[in-house]
Amino acid sequence: MNHDYQIPDRLIQKYNVNGPRYTSYPTAPVWGPVDSQTQHGWFLELAKSPRPLSLYFHIPFCQERCSYCGCNTMITQNHGKATEYVTYLLKELDHLASYGLGHKQVRQIHFGGGTPTFLKDEEFGQILGKVRELFSFEPNAELAIEVDPCSTHEGQMEMLAALGFNRLSLGLQDFNPKVQQAVNRIQSLEITKKHIDLARTLGFSGVNLDLMYGLPHQTLETMKVTLDQVISLNPDRLALYNFAYLPEQLPHQKLIHPEDLPDEKTKLAIFFEAIQRFTQAGYEYIGMDHFAKSTDELSVAQKSRQLYRNFMGYSPKSGVDLVGVGITSIGETETYFLQNEKSLPEYQKAIATSGLAGKRGIQLSLDDRIRKWTIIRLICHFYLDFEEFAQAFGQDFPTYFKTELDGLGDMVEEGLLELGAGHIQVKPWGKILVRNICMRFDAYLTGKEAPKVKFSKTI
Ligand SMILES: C[S@@+](CC[C@H](N)C(=O)[O-])C[C@H]1O[C@@H](n2cnc3c(N)ncnc32)[C@H](O)[C@@H]1O
Ligand code: SF4
Repeated sequence: MNHDYQIPDRLIQKYNVNGPRYTSYPTAPVWGPVDSQTQHGWFLELAKSPRPLSLYFHIPFCQERCSYCGCNTMITQNHGKATEYVTYLLKELDHLASYGLGHKQVRQIHFGGGTPTFLKDEEFGQILGKVRELFSFEPNAELAIEVDPCSTHEGQMEMLAALGFNRLSLGLQDFNPKVQQAVNRIQSLEITKKHIDLARTLGFSGVNLDLMYGLPHQTLETMKVTLDQVISLNPDRLALYNFAYLPEQLPHQKLIHPEDLPDEKTKLAIFFEAIQRFTQAGYEYIGMDHFAKSTDELSVAQKSRQLYRNFMGYSPKSGVDLVGVGITSIGETETYFLQNEKSLPEYQKAIATSGLAGKRGIQLSLDDRIRKWTIIRLICHFYLDFEEFAQAFGQDFPTYFKTELDGLGDMVEEGLLELGAGHIQVKPWGKILVRNICMRFDAYLTGKEAPKVKFSKTI
């Protein structure tokens, strides 16, 4: 039995506070509006940078709404909206290439949503065709796509494989019929298995399954059944998200009744049960919500300290410039974050007039870059080497972070981390509480610049 991660109640009480998920640092609420000058600066940095590209395409459409959904979606049966949207994605790509990025190689492509498989086969062909016309691909480039198994059509998986997609991420959440009913997402074990088996037959090299805990009617007993069913499907990676229930911001979530939600104690029991069952079944706990087989690229990248974290979650593809295409998508270079317009009409208007759709973002100061580097090491590698820091920034880590290190005494005593002469090592309990550790290095959580948003609970 793996009890390494089972943290005591007193630590849960102390540390289960609201905090960022650190898919970026500085976190998105700290960013501000961007003007066209900042956007030009971002493109110029992209053009100069020798790093390969990671392209994220946001496809916001879904046919039906799952009532838990917190993603950026538009529910529609009108396919014309997607057809029109694709013409703007193509324009945005052309505009991007006009900044002299044509020399860049693509290391990674990710289609997220919404439900990317809402697009017709020919629309996928147009987008991939345009990317191949404008850029070249690295030999082992990853082409990943999020798929809702309930809404794919006959032959669609074959089409995706033929276009070069080689990673699949399937939404699932829970197999229990009562839970599925309550969240308007009916998805059988059979249809999920069919997609995983087909992906393997078609040569996809990796399959991810998304689960959620904290959904209505979930109990520890029902979740044990789902966890075993999931393990029997043998995915390469697993995500287990804590359900973010925000009915005031997301009115469709009002279909979920608070009295049906499991209490905090049950949610934690489910979370620790999942860690135990998944690690027993040969998965490694990557951190936050992610698990991967020990042979998977994610686990290998973590061991060799190449793992990265961006707004899509953990990624084995570090050292890339991330460019977001489409509404709400986020780009990231060494010194910028840039997020596109969230509203579809505004996005389309911006692309039509200037080709620039950036709305919010930030240019990182040196202190931001130093703290971003630090947080990435802690949250991805669970290890930070002072010498590596000195090489990267020409500064002494213990001197730069004297106040922060002096304040870590309680975490050392509680067994969350080890503070060596030349390193910080995060221990198993610290892995569960890694957001709390990162918060100690976040310069924006207190004072005037503290964002006014309420972050989710850290456990
Ligand atoms: C864009 S969605 C999934 C892609 C695809 N549309 C599907 O549903 O299969 C990505 C994942 O985000 C997670 N998610 C969605 N809403 C959430 C919420 N309110 N709280 C936590 N995780 C959520 C779900 O696990 C979901 O599979
Ligand atoms: S979970 Fe997926 S399919 Fe369901 S509404 Fe959200 S994005 Fe659409």
